[in-house]
Amino acid sequence: MRGLPWFAKVYLVAVIGTAFGLLAHGVAGNSRIEQLEWSTLLVLALLFLVCESMPTLLSVRQAAVSVSFSAALAAVVLAGPEGAALVGMTAVLSVRPGLPLVKRLFNGAQFALCGYVAGRVYESLLGRSAGVPGVGGAGGAGGIAFSDLIVPFAGAAAVFVPLNFVLIALVLAATGQADQVPLRGLAQFMVSYLGYATFGLLIAGLWATVNSIAAVLVLIPLFVARWAFGQYLAQQRSYDATIAALCQAVETKDYYTRGHCTRVSRASGMIAEEIGMGSERLRAIRYAGMLHDVGKLGVPTKVLQKEGPLTEEEFAAIQLHPMRGLEIVRGIDFLDEAFAGIMHHHERQDGRGYPMGLAGDEIPEFARIIAVADAFDAMTSDRSYRNARSVEVATEELRKSAGAQFDPVMVNAFLRALDRQGWEPPRTVAVPPADTAETTTKDHDDPTAPIQVVSDVTTGTER
Ligand SMILES: [Fe+2]
Repeated sequence: MRGLPWFAKVYLVAVIGTAFGLLAHGVAGNSRIEQLEWSTLLVLALLFLVCESMPTLLSVRQAAVSVSFSAALAAVVLAGPEGAALVGMTAVLSVRPGLPLVKRLFNGAQFALCGYVAGRVYESLLGRSAGVPGVGGAGGAGGIAFSDLIVPFAGAAAVFVPLNFVLIALVLAATGQADQVPLRGLAQFMVSYLGYATFGLLIAGLWATVNSIAAVLVLIPLFVARWAFGQYLAQQRSYDATIAALCQAVETKDYYTRGHCTRVSRASGMIAEEIGMGSERLRAIRYAGMLHDVGKLGVPTKVLQKEGPLTEEEFAAIQLHPMRGLEIVRGIDFLDEAFAGIMHHHERQDGRGYPMGLAGDEIPEFARIIAVADAFDAMTSDRSYRNARSVEVATEELRKSAGAQFDPVMVNAFLRALDRQGWEPPRTVAVPPADTAETTTKDHDDPTAPIQVVSDVTTGTER
């Protein structure tokens, strides 16, 4: 608690105090807790603890999510508000080594509060006390018909999930971690949570027939899901490592372009987020940003290092790098839409780019994004022939060239993202000692220093 702002302390104490107050009131003054079946509570609490101790079971972007609330919602149906609060409070005991006590207490308290409120909603919609549903869908002797609890359960889940989100979002905001609140894609986040909440209904429905074995039956698919998700994460890591290795290979071609791929990837991601790109395409555009210049591996180093103007043939070798890039990565099927970004990142809005001379909307969206990110990073980085330009100068250059070289929509999106998030340009590059690092004398990405091309010995043009 030390070091937290006062309002964060007040909030934590309020949530934890309310939850313990509710439980104490239930134990002391409410005989319903005594009527609960302790074996049911124990199995539900164990199920809840197992789920709560495996927070990476499911993951929505960076947020580690457990499906423990499925067990808490099952407790709502089987044991009512007080029972759900007791089950939720066991989160305090979850197996998470190193988790501070105050976080454990808050976690247990917020689950207890959500369970209690959801339980109240459930019982008011049901019109009677919670309990084990009847066998075979019938009410049975005192039991509740399964069909009758579906709507109350949906109501309970619709309260539990948003309340859980709000309680956690508030603690993150109060402790200065507001950036970790998954506000982007919130609807998707909520829908997936509500979808997994149906596990709770499944447990409650099965309970009538197989009693506590219901917990085991639900745990099996959850363990399989955890294993499958682990495999998926391992695969993503190997994709990232492959891309990083290719990037590093490109950057060894020029001492001055170290980190360029990563920064173009970041800036491309900023633009893509700004124009509302979905998560799968965001991942692909980041890969495309990393790999946009992989084709430089196919450009002779002596061309990149040549001092003075290039011949038409040498310039053609540089213009071939998008095609070479595509040839290099064509076999990597997870790159998908990134191929178009790599192939066309030097097209221009006015059709004077390469390799195809596409114009306007003919240019794939990925390529229009990378073109802006690529030029911006080239301008704001040191090169062998000049020092880095400031962010202000580079953005002014982007503005000037919007419509001719760059897509104005992407330029504006990038400027808005820059305004909000800022940009950390790379540190100044020290001049490398001679003969120890490869450097080039020109950068095909730099719109402020066009490459000089000679078509014959007397005339020279800028490209
Ligand atoms: Fe390029």
